[in-house]
Amino acid sequence: MPSVAIIGSGFIGRAWAISFARAGHDVVLWDNDQAAPDRAIEFIADVLPDLATNDLLAGATPAALLSRLRIERDLGAALKGVEHVQENAPERVDIKKALFAELDRLAPTDAIIASSTSAILPSRFTESLSGRHRCLIIHPINPPYLIPAAEIVPAPWTSPEVVRRAREFLMAAGQAPIVMKRELDGFVMNRMQGALLEEAFRLVADGYATVEDIDVGIRDGLALRWSFMGPFETIDLNAPGGVRDYAERYHGIYKILFGQMQRRVDWEGPVLDEIERARRVELPASQLAERQLWRDRRLMALAAHKRRAAREIGD
Ligand SMILES: NC(=O)c1ccc[n+]([C@@H]2O[C@H](COP(=O)([O-])OP(=O)(O)OC[C@H]3O[C@@H](n4cnc5c(N)ncnc54)[C@H](O)[C@@H]3O)[C@@H](O)[C@H]2O)c1
Repeated sequence: MPSVAIIGSGFIGRAWAISFARAGHDVVLWDNDQAAPDRAIEFIADVLPDLATNDLLAGATPAALLSRLRIERDLGAALKGVEHVQENAPERVDIKKALFAELDRLAPTDAIIASSTSAILPSRFTESLSGRHRCLIIHPINPPYLIPAAEIVPAPWTSPEVVRRAREFLMAAGQAPIVMKRELDGFVMNRMQGALLEEAFRLVADGYATVEDIDVGIRDGLALRWSFMGPFETIDLNAPGGVRDYAERYHGIYKILFGQMQRRVDWEGPVLDEIERARRVELPASQLAERQLWRDRRLMALAAHKRRAAREIGD
């Protein structure tokens, strides 16, 4: 299997390493903090048994998967012969710019160079590179070994062939690529999440619902379907005649809302005190880390369930 270089081995780098090694790739980890790749492998070794228990290692054993990981201290050595480079350095345009110049200089000319950036548009750090046609964004949701969707975002000069190869690479690794036709702030998923959060903040700020009740509305309401269908498939199935029937029946209801949704809410204003107070009643700050582990276990159980249900009931 062709090899993959993980550049920046923090939260996202270590998580991608699991996805790519699980797909059978040899994965080399590099970071400008020499200790980071060792910490990443320690984390990965801790997480693999849980993934194996949930049958989420594509049949590999933790030991086999670990044997596909290698650490390199020298950037040139890390990039030697790789087919795919995944950059996961801090979210700063100056860092991405400097790093991409090095990656483009050192990586094999036919390797794809992808950034995990959450929000920096690819045109901001790849424009001046001679290999800019092979640079793009592959933005995951953390952790990508449990959450398959990942956004492919091309710069205006990214070649369509590179986009196609990136998509195939992700599909083969069991991810679910979203291919954007061109770059846009927030990509797809943060725009969707932003729209929902803005309304959640507004409902609390204007005193219509509590923080917990809004969470109930998603957790015990909309998200049950959303965990296996998107909003378009949801509405297609929510009117006897499908999506057109839904729009004709219900657009009137929504039209009234959109005028009310124009006013911006200041997320950091007084509403934040109220939201934080409510959250700290539900979960004291001292228990945040423990609850994050709980979330990861629930995600694992959900990923295992989704795989089983897709197999037994269908996609
Ligand atoms: N954490 C998330 O939930 C998440 C989700 C999607 C995308 N991302 C994106 O992934 C990228 C990495 O985020 P993270 O959460 O893993 O951060 P992190 O702080 O956990 O890891 C960043 C790593 O980069 C290393 N680093 C610093 N300077 C570097 C350099 N010049 N070259 C190489 N490595 C360098 C650090 O030592 C560290 O190990 C960011 O662009 C972030 O926006 C993060």
